[in-house]
Amino acid sequence: MKNVVIAGATGAVGNEFIKLLEAREFPVKNLRLLASARSIGKKLEFRGEKIPVEQLTSKSFNGVDLAFFSAGRESSKVYIPHAVESGTVVIDNSSAFRMDPDVPLVVPEINPESVFKHKGIIANPNCSTIQMVVALNPIHKAAEVKRVVVSTYQSTAGAGAKGMNELLNQARAWANGEALEISSFPSQILFNLFPHVDIFMENGYTKEEMKMVNETKKIMNTPNMGISATCVRVPVLRSHSEAVWIETEKKITPKEAKEILKKSPGLTVRDEPENGGYPMPWEVDNTLDTFVGRIREDFSHPKGLTFWVVADNLNKGAALNSIQIAEVLEAG
Ligand code: A2P
Repeated sequence: MKNVVIAGATGAVGNEFIKLLEAREFPVKNLRLLASARSIGKKLEFRGEKIPVEQLTSKSFNGVDLAFFSAGRESSKVYIPHAVESGTVVIDNSSAFRMDPDVPLVVPEINPESVFKHKGIIANPNCSTIQMVVALNPIHKAAEVKRVVVSTYQSTAGAGAKGMNELLNQARAWANGEALEISSFPSQILFNLFPHVDIFMENGYTKEEMKMVNETKKIMNTPNMGISATCVRVPVLRSHSEAVWIETEKKITPKEAKEILKKSPGLTVRDEPENGGYPMPWEVDNTLDTFVGRIREDFSHPKGLTFWVVADNLNKGAALNSIQIAEVLEAG
């Protein structure tokens, strides 16, 4: 049994942590909930008990075995070193330590063994990366993926509770004929979309796009894989979608790929397009698997395959993957 804290407990991912720790019967002895000073006075329910939210400080980690962090990159940078100093094992949802060679970056379906190389911190990958690699890795094992081109359709939940609220508030304001407020996003998100997730880098890509490139190579241990991403924010509340095109070393047919994906952990194949049988964010919300559909030959290339991937970015893209990492640690 473990003493556990959630840093960022009042956020969109924090909320899923609380629900999933309970639902999966993670062996929690004592759970403490941490957030900013703004949340002092709030109480959140875990196993029928109302737990008061405490302020996250450098002294929050005495006697804590395990900390789940989802309070933003800056909080991770400031507070995680204190947690590690206290002997706490940290599973971090932010991008702060993901590319640090001493920090394992883990998707349990792919590289569970690297969990045990940790020196106090284990990083949870970016949400868009996780769902892509869960689908990509089984195909890579069968046919060696040489090149990936991906276009994402990312929900507002990727920007946390405030991102989801911004879409809802804009919808309400529009219905009432009022001016739309923009604060979390670079532009209006209602009735719109933009190829702009996170900041722009010198190479013309966004930081989100480069996370998909670099994190995929680290998780799958494929330094020479060609990857190019375009990340797009769309007016969806929750769950990310991705169109993925791949070139493989060995020819793989859509039928073969489907059979492989059906047998792979964490994946559900929903691929009967004539009957509306393709995954959509609306129906994937609050589920745990990564869903794949529209699996077909990319006829622009002799060894090309293309498919569509949808997953709940707050679950498999964040809280669930982190808890699965903790479960691997627990199982030893
Ligand atoms: P708070 O609710 O007190 O602001 P989301 O990603 O859904 O926006 O949630 C972010 C989470 O991270 C919230 O729980 C938020 O707490 C927490 N958080 C953000 N900044 C800090 C900070 N500087 N110190 C502690 N918690 C923080």
